[in-house]
Amino acid sequence: MPKIKAVDAFEILDSRGNPTLSVTVALAGGDLGRAQVPSGASTGKHEAVELRDGDPHRYRGKGVRKAVTHVKQVLGGALVGDSFDSQADLDQRMIELDGTPDKSRLGANAILGVSCAYARAVANEERIPLWASLPSGAEPSMPVPMVNMISGGLHAGGLIEVQDFLAVPHGFQTLADSLEALVAIHHATRNWLVQKGYRLTGVADEGGWGPALESNEAALEALTAAIAMDGLESNVSIAIDVASSHFRVGNSYRLTSEQRTLKRHEMIDLLASWVDRYPVVSIEDGLDQDDWEGWVALTQRLGEKVQLIGDDLFTTNPKRLAHGVELRAANSVLVKMNQIGTLTETFEVLRMAREAGYRAVVSARSGETEDSFLADLAVASGAGQIKIGSITRSERLSKYNRLLEIEGREIADAT
Ligand code: PGA
Ligand code: ZN
Repeated sequence: MPKIKAVDAFEILDSRGNPTLSVTVALAGGDLGRAQVPSGASTGKHEAVELRDGDPHRYRGKGVRKAVTHVKQVLGGALVGDSFDSQADLDQRMIELDGTPDKSRLGANAILGVSCAYARAVANEERIPLWASLPSGAEPSMPVPMVNMISGGLHAGGLIEVQDFLAVPHGFQTLADSLEALVAIHHATRNWLVQKGYRLTGVADEGGWGPALESNEAALEALTAAIAMDGLESNVSIAIDVASSHFRVGNSYRLTSEQRTLKRHEMIDLLASWVDRYPVVSIEDGLDQDDWEGWVALTQRLGEKVQLIGDDLFTTNPKRLAHGVELRAANSVLVKMNQIGTLTETFEVLRMAREAGYRAVVSARSGETEDSFLADLAVASGAGQIKIGSITRSERLSKYNRLLEIEGREIADAT
């Protein structure tokens, strides 16, 4: 039973230059674990609360000194000296110490930092890799990556509305082979865009290209062409994250870049037409986060053909996923630890998805750190898929490179 000797935290910066937490947990046996907490931009309404200081004189109100204090004094004060039977035991204790349904008192960022740092300390104490130590209750496996190539929405200045256009590999033997193909497509996408006269001045928040395309569909054309330029049509398909809650106005979806507004059924028609005309195999947040009725209709229409992922819809929340499963809304869930705030609840969502026959995609946030925890989580949970962003920017690469390390060294060693 690992006993907690010390808990510490300090403020660091994430990949957008916003403050976030670095948390350390020390065990009585001498081992340490550290974790850094990610942060979203296109956050769902039903996510657990990320506690920010709100002091306009520091980081435009985004400081996390209160959350740091909560880790050191409230959580540290209560947990130091105690032993825990399991991760679930620790996480339950923190949920009780917080006492709110959305972790708004102590902050989901504070609680998640301790949850993950403790898991790492335990793995270090056991002298085994993190993925082998995490109590996922599932068979570990290497996930297939869906990789961001073109970005829009809140991650790329809103030039188009759909947030991510991603490439999904299939039929590759290893993650290393998949990544080689995906890097080639990232280059081909750039070359295609430049040839067509688009100006590229850098990459978006998750490392995808963010050109001023004339429509959302133009991004599908670009990515389809890039895949063909590399002759990879039979090995690579397309996924999109519509993130539609972020351009819903009233009961409609406003495509400002195309100067048109769609009703729910027109939005479903548009998505269906993309599935018919492009190699789209996965659609995330195709409809608004509270439109359960629309999601049921969307799932009836496209659920047999493509993966329909709920991100803002489910917010990694066991209660919201249970509701969706009951209604048969969506057929897959996006899993982001900081949407719910503890590892135990994250594993609970993954378990529920497995039992309901829903697929799961373990996902990073648009604001990330160099922490590679997510890679170990994806392997440990056997989720099958991971979404980290693009293959540029080191906060993304830390996860891909950790997956390559697990694939190349640790899985081989373990078998
Ligand atoms: P976020 O974006 O981290 O800004 O929420 C990721 C996503 O929507 O999947
Ligand atoms: Zn999303």
